[in-house]
Amino acid sequence: MAENWKEKDQLKPKDLDGISNQQVDYHFETHYKGYVKKLNEIWEKLPASDRSKANQNYSEFRELKLEETFNYDGALLHEIYFGNLQNGHSTVPESVKKAVARDFESYEKWVEDFKATGIAFRGWSLLVFDLNTGKLRNIGADVHNTNGIWNAIVLLALDVYEHAYYTDYGPKRAGYLDAFMKNVNWKLVEERLSKAEKAYQAFK
Ligand SMILES: [Fe+2]
Repeated sequence: MAENWKEKDQLKPKDLDGISNQQVDYHFETHYKGYVKKLNEIWEKLPASDRSKANQNYSEFRELKLEETFNYDGALLHEIYFGNLQNGHSTVPESVKKAVARDFESYEKWVEDFKATGIAFRGWSLLVFDLNTGKLRNIGADVHNTNGIWNAIVLLALDVYEHAYYTDYGPKRAGYLDAFMKNVNWKLVEERLSKAEKAYQAFK
């Protein structure tokens, strides 16, 4: 029996400040659900794919394996992104401020780096906890399943694909980045940071 990824409708945010419900609707219903749908299709097909015909130039098995991580990471990062957004402004917890200040000199320097990463890449700006070193890093990714580092836990995901903001901002990505920062659910980021710190203690 093939695996199955369930769509998480409860993660869809509403009434954000500076990101319209229409924008969120297109993004959630078309893009996020599209990754989930294709991932499930791939998982249906993979068990029967002929491993004896595996070939690095072209083979059905290779294509399925390639798009498996594209759609898996696409579904996963979108769930973190939508889960990180909430209606109502929350303040940044001291524990989060302290952690980013430790690795980026100050909270303000981290924001500057996080936003610059969001401008410099085509897909994602991600705040991750690196379990290899115990440090926080900002990772930029052009595609869901590229540019990451292994053994890192995503704490905050900022989608910078055009589909995430064009309905509201057209080509003005910087305005969208400001809006995103106003709607972060910091409590969730704090919880993920705390879990990542415990995981790091177990890893090292
Ligand atoms: Fe997206």
